[in-house]
Amino acid sequence: MPLLAHLSVLLLCLVAHPASASLMFVFGSSYGDIGNVDPHDSWRPYPWTKPYGETWPGVPNGRYSNGHVLSDVLGAALQTAPSVSITQLHGGINGTVGISFAVGGAGVLSAYGYPPISAQIDQFQRIASSFTPEQLASAVVLYTTAGDDYFYYINVQKSPIETIYPLTVNVGKQISVDLIRLYQLGLRKFAVTYLPPTGCLPIATANSSYSSCNQTWSANVAEPHNARVFRNVLGLRHYFHNGSIVNLDLYTAFTNVQSSLGGLRPCCVGKDANSKCGSVGAGGTPAYTVCPNPNSKFFWDDLIHPTEAGWQAVVNQLQSALGPLR
Ligand SMILES: *[C@@H]1O[C@H](CO)[C@@H](O)[C@H](O)[C@H]1NC(C)=O
Ligand SMILES: *[C@@H]1O[C@H](CO)[C@@H](O)[C@H](O)[C@H]1NC(C)=O
Ligand SMILES: *[C@@H]1O[C@H](CO)[C@@H](O)[C@H](O)[C@H]1NC(C)=O
Ligand SMILES: *[C@@H]1O[C@H](CO)[C@@H](O)[C@H](O)[C@H]1NC(C)=O
Repeated sequence: MPLLAHLSVLLLCLVAHPASASLMFVFGSSYGDIGNVDPHDSWRPYPWTKPYGETWPGVPNGRYSNGHVLSDVLGAALQTAPSVSITQLHGGINGTVGISFAVGGAGVLSAYGYPPISAQIDQFQRIASSFTPEQLASAVVLYTTAGDDYFYYINVQKSPIETIYPLTVNVGKQISVDLIRLYQLGLRKFAVTYLPPTGCLPIATANSSYSSCNQTWSANVAEPHNARVFRNVLGLRHYFHNGSIVNLDLYTAFTNVQSSLGGLRPCCVGKDANSKCGSVGAGGTPAYTVCPNPNSKFFWDDLIHPTEAGWQAVVNQLQSALGPLR
């Protein structure tokens, strides 16, 4: 074998199996869920139905995307060890794989009647002693709410968006409580996502046929939420001795990249007002349409979820923030 080929094989091995890759632990909702939603849950069946997973792995696999989601793409960028979902771990904790506790629809406080993110931390607490202090200290925590508390408030509770501010205060406080608990359990490296521009997500732009962002949603939800997370993170930086904590600014990243990937219109949309991407009609026929090339689009579905290509573009935008996590 020529020397160059030897070298590239060696390099590939180094990239694929870093000496002791850091683990990643993921808490939050759909942006970090890699299979934790119950497939039999009739309220949020989507990630286990076609056409989710269409591009990768080719069948629905519990991810809210056509392929990988934020936590996968971020893990690849940071070269963390592979992760499994807590529901698919089946007790096999051995320090070589990270774990996602995130569940689509989970709120920071509570949303849709599902357990809040703090319940995911309870799950982590029960198994934390399976990891060495070094594994915990070198692990990356991804804490990622997609805004489920707010979507529940607006769309399910039908509360007026103008009255949402106190909820952003309470959600912000709980995020700090959650992060402090994770620190006290031995974790040291934290990435906390901002909300994307809420008014540009498909659930907010459907009303304009995906032609324009609803500024009321961004101004009342994402902006106060993100301002609070910014202050939380500044405060915790002083508290987290020997630790690092960074914001992942999804607001700016989404804004910068969505126009170059097909704009606001998602790839997969319900055929009528009563159906969503993944809905089925009479006789099991699809009640949605899917674009021919999902990864040419930024948004995947008519809820809040980017395509894998969308997440890749977002994580490329976040590179400069990742230094303290490596
Ligand atoms: C560790 O656990 C994971 C998930 O349970 C499993 O896929 C992997 O094969 C295990 N590795 C070792 C070395 O036991
Ligand atoms: C949709 O847009 C119309 C016109 O601006 C507005 O009256 C209506 O309240 C909007 N509906 C929702 C659900 O945002
Ligand atoms: C924007 O969202 C608000 C709150 O849901 C709604 O009242 C308003 O009609 C929406 N505007 C448009 C143009 O859809
Ligand atoms: C910080 O880390 C160093 C080296 O790992 C250790 O000696 C020191 O006790 C740690 N300090 C705190 C406050 O945890």
